[in-house]
Amino acid sequence: MSEWVKHDLLDLQDMSKAEIEIILETAKSFKEVSSRDVKKVPALRGKTVVMLFFEPSTRTRSSFELAAKRLSADTINIAASSSSLSKGESALDTARNIEAMNVDAIVVRHSSSGVPQVLSKNLNASVINAGDGCRSHPTQALLDMFTIQEKLGRIGGLKVAILGDIRHSRVARSNIWGLTTMGAEVTVCGPSTLVPPEIEDLGAKINYDIREVIRQSDVLMPLRIQMERQQQKFLPSLREYAKEFGIDKKKLELAKKDVIIMHPGPTNRGLEVSAEVADGEYSVILNQVTNGVAVRMAILYLLLGAKGKSIEGK
Ligand code: CP
Repeated sequence: MSEWVKHDLLDLQDMSKAEIEIILETAKSFKEVSSRDVKKVPALRGKTVVMLFFEPSTRTRSSFELAAKRLSADTINIAASSSSLSKGESALDTARNIEAMNVDAIVVRHSSSGVPQVLSKNLNASVINAGDGCRSHPTQALLDMFTIQEKLGRIGGLKVAILGDIRHSRVARSNIWGLTTMGAEVTVCGPSTLVPPEIEDLGAKINYDIREVIRQSDVLMPLRIQMERQQQKFLPSLREYAKEFGIDKKKLELAKKDVIIMHPGPTNRGLEVSAEVADGEYSVILNQVTNGVAVRMAILYLLLGAKGKSIEGK
């Protein structure tokens, strides 16, 4: 296995297959740590990880915090609403002030695409992208790939369908980059207003026939309709969307018998996926959340702690 060299994790566009494989392999060894009675190893003792979230989050923020704590790092949470960001300080100035307290990593989420890249250019601390605008959510795609590999035994050669609001989805873009690098075939499907044609330039196919897509796919990944990012009306009605594109029990009858249903969350039950399907036997939605901690432990370990150490020494 080749050596890890990256200082930041900004997106998957420039990540090689070998680098993705290192993260997924490292995460396997950290998944076992979370199943122990004492869920802690000393790998990052003395390191400080700051969660700097300019947008709401349940899964990503708590998962990064748990990951850092399980590696024995110190953690701080900064939310836009309760910090000097609400007094007009810029994201970069806030990050520079945090870095001045000698922190080792800043995990950042922002509604504007490119903020993690700006921080990375201006800071010495490692910068980890926890979601920027509609562009990129690399750790979500990595935990999705880990879950696919765990459940189906491989990624290469699989047919993965990403469904729904592709236009506003950073999860879709990161998954297209990551999954195609790993040799999967990615198809996107949704209302034409929510599937931008340029998505094909990233390596995904477009197919508007939801029933055909369900029939041929190994993985179905419906996405949340992101009303908060829509300045114009992209849908005639949510009821119409649920009827045509929502994954319910009836549509699922068309799927392969070992299909898996994924969702990055938050989930709108009854809209992009029915409650029955979200809680059903094909759903791996909560496995994704569990795996998120292991994958984020692997990322923090590789960026902050792996230099000169073997994983066994963690
Ligand atoms: N998947 C995801 O990013 O969820 P949160 O917004 O809760 O972090």
